[in-house]
Amino acid sequence: MADSRASRFTLIERGSSSSSLSDDVRRGLTAAPKSLPPHHFYDELGSALFDAITRLPEYYVTRAETDVLAEHCDEIAAAFGTPARLIELGAGSARKTRLLFDAVLRRQEELEYVPIDVDPTILERSGRDLLDEYPSLRVAAIASDFRAPSRALAGALDSGARNVVLFLGSTIGNLDFEESIAMFRDLRSVLREGDVLFLGADLKKSISVLEPAYDDALGVTAAFNLNLLQRINRELSANFDLKRFAHRAFFNEERSRIEMHLVSREAHSVRIEALGLDIPFAAGESIHTESSHKYDTAAVERIARESGFALERQWTDSNGWFADFLMRR
Ligand code: SAH
Ligand code: AVI
Repeated sequence: MADSRASRFTLIERGSSSSSLSDDVRRGLTAAPKSLPPHHFYDELGSALFDAITRLPEYYVTRAETDVLAEHCDEIAAAFGTPARLIELGAGSARKTRLLFDAVLRRQEELEYVPIDVDPTILERSGRDLLDEYPSLRVAAIASDFRAPSRALAGALDSGARNVVLFLGSTIGNLDFEESIAMFRDLRSVLREGDVLFLGADLKKSISVLEPAYDDALGVTAAFNLNLLQRINRELSANFDLKRFAHRAFFNEERSRIEMHLVSREAHSVRIEALGLDIPFAAGESIHTESSHKYDTAAVERIARESGFALERQWTDSNGWFADFLMRR
């Protein structure tokens, strides 16, 4: 008989996942140009808004990766090796990951899953759902910043199974090139030879497809972006008036990335009580809130090479819009 749900679920918080909000706001909003790091999007409402984004007609990213996984999951699970332990960076709701659970559990009887996310509320919710759906799954969730994987994973990789680190959804794209390499080098330092990094990367494509994916007609992505200001109002006693900011998303061809900004509609100033700061905004001045890089195979090969992984295989959806790459330590 399967173990009870309680004995199959743990959630630990490692390092403080959100305490850097005040440091990041102070640094980012007193700099020129202004910016904020994107992991602060994901409070409880932000994670729910991201989930809504993945269901929008314009946001092809999640559907394209789902197609890759649905079509090739058995081949992918075979390439991982058996028995495998799945570790997922930026796991979120783990909706797509279920395709990999199904495929891995066709090859082994039990599975340990280690989801890592900055938002503990989504780990709690998705972990409990998974236990109901998968009686042979153990979930050891870690609320932590994935940019320092060796710290997030300390002590979590000890037993004999092959460690397979999933980094899906092109979340890698929210880091710049140097940050990606630093993160993967740090990850490599805690993996054993033969362990796997399975990376989802969104590919370069027409601007007419890219830009609407980040500026949808319903305004969900705009709400996701503006929620960052609402979070700062709530957690740092600030007085951002959301109506004074516009969502802007465009493809920066030179840097091969979508950029999301919050643009001040008029000259005004914002008080952030918890930091004792008044932040002036000029009309048209923007806060750069997210980059979402778009790749070709050569760029992913370069990231793998420079961080010490060997790129073994890749799988692409039928449009050639998204690819999942298997890299071996
Ligand atoms: N993997 C899912 C979710 C992607 S959304 C998918 O492919 O659809 C990005 C997820 O990463 C969110 O759940 C967010 O909370 C988490 N995240 C973003 N930045 C993070 C960081 N620096 N450290 C840990 N988690 C982070
Ligand atoms: C999580 N990340 C990969 C998403 C992306 O596409 O960059 C976040 C997102 N931002 C706006 N829409 C979706």
